[in-house]
Amino acid sequence: MTDQTAAGPLTTEAGAPVADNQNSQTAGAGGPGLIQDQHLIEKLAHFNRERIPERIVHARGAGAYGTFTVTADVTPYTRAKFLSEIGKETEVFLRFSTVAGNLGSADAVRDPRGFALKFYTEEGNYDLVGNNTPVFFIRDAIKFPDFIHTQKRDPYTGSQEADNVWDFWGLSPESTHQVTWLFGDRGIPASYRHLDGFGSHTFQWANEDGEVFWVKYHFKTDQGIKNLTSEEAAVLAGQDPDSHQRDLRVSIENGDFPSWTVQVQIMPANEAATYRFNPFDLTKVWPHADYPPITIGKLELNRNPQNIFAEVEQSIFSPHHFVPGIGPSPDKMLQGRLFGYGDAHRYRVGINADHLPVNRPHATEARTHGRDGVMYDGRHGGAKNYEPNSFGGPAETGRPLWEPVTVTGTTDGHATPSHAEDDDFVQAGNLYRLMSEEEKERLINNLAGFIAQVSRDDIAERAIENFRRADEDYGKRLQTAVQALRG
Ligand code: HEM
Repeated sequence: MTDQTAAGPLTTEAGAPVADNQNSQTAGAGGPGLIQDQHLIEKLAHFNRERIPERIVHARGAGAYGTFTVTADVTPYTRAKFLSEIGKETEVFLRFSTVAGNLGSADAVRDPRGFALKFYTEEGNYDLVGNNTPVFFIRDAIKFPDFIHTQKRDPYTGSQEADNVWDFWGLSPESTHQVTWLFGDRGIPASYRHLDGFGSHTFQWANEDGEVFWVKYHFKTDQGIKNLTSEEAAVLAGQDPDSHQRDLRVSIENGDFPSWTVQVQIMPANEAATYRFNPFDLTKVWPHADYPPITIGKLELNRNPQNIFAEVEQSIFSPHHFVPGIGPSPDKMLQGRLFGYGDAHRYRVGINADHLPVNRPHATEARTHGRDGVMYDGRHGGAKNYEPNSFGGPAETGRPLWEPVTVTGTTDGHATPSHAEDDDFVQAGNLYRLMSEEEKERLINNLAGFIAQVSRDDIAERAIENFRRADEDYGKRLQTAVQALRG
């Protein structure tokens, strides 16, 4: 790349010197403009095309580069090379985000935070596209577009509507656990540095011998958890809409590098069928008493992107970007996401999105027979673009990235199977009962303030009923608080 800060002539896009960047050309002083003024036309045309579609969710975010370092021997569980040795370092890029707001929305809002992590490994890029919550609102990808429509702007009013949000959550009782989490103290993190990250889904790890384990990832912030109350957030969102983004950039500029301790919960594959909760249900955690988290690494962010549009807006993270030794689980949400993200990237950034510097592999090279398309840079030169061929070049390895999973049954629209202790409320109730009296008070107030905005009694009552089913006291207190606000 040339040094764009060096002195020298200003040029057109084609590199020709520009004589006048202050006055557009006209037919005589005070006359109409001239079509021969290519510099003006080029400037206006380029300006009109400066935006790409914002992400349909997680539009608002900030990113930074850093390093992941292995601190424990996990070779008994996975053959992933970047995890193969204590002390081994891998470059990463992490993009944090909020979910529902548009690109220009405020950071200090009650919303999950995205925690999208790209490991630039020597076996290709591995993306772990998680959140700051260990669970999610729904357990089947088929419900995701409906769910997000209720979080985004109503087609008639153009605003987020309490009616839509609570109608959907009330009719989707599996959301009760995540909603309890979101309206609790961790629902508005103080900054991107003061939150934990989670892979959320269960993923497959497989070792060199093909032995399979199910894993869940946790990233525990070394800065400590710090949150904002609803009142603090309302003030901050108004005063400094970019609070999270600024905090991350400035702390890295000051050499105050944020870090996370990386842990995994590991379940031997043969325990999945009989585990008390369906281990592939994204609305449930694995209690730590069942599968204690094991510390395996350290994640540090230490380098800011230089160009937000090129490196953050155009960054792409795909749950289907796996490397040898790591793969998906049968979680129906994850399965939907394996399609959704690549499709979003082809629409939002284009078919050659993974050629951009932030997205391409850094520790190896992509060697495909995919060619051409918009903005193709000719990287393959004259090499053959088909395979098998008789001219050499890249060839298949014969070894799948992850191990096959045995399945039986009939094709149909099956509900996620329930295990012995599965229902939609048990873990929400457990979370509520874990809270201190003050935490419960804040949770009830946060929920009541939002539910009280619902215009129809039946929608509000159905929503409250889900919390009552999680815990009698939880439901009763919420009902009283909502009634008090509705008068
Ligand atoms: C079936 C369910 C889901 C679907 C269909 C879905 C779809 C999407 C889409 C289309 C994007 C925008 C991608 C882009 O334009 O680059 C996105 C972004 C994102 N999603 Fe999901 N999502 C789902 C569930 C989840 C879950 C469960 C999590 C976390 C556990 C999650 C975390 C994220 C994050 C962190 C981003 C932002 C990635 C970035 O920083 O570029 N999503 N999602």
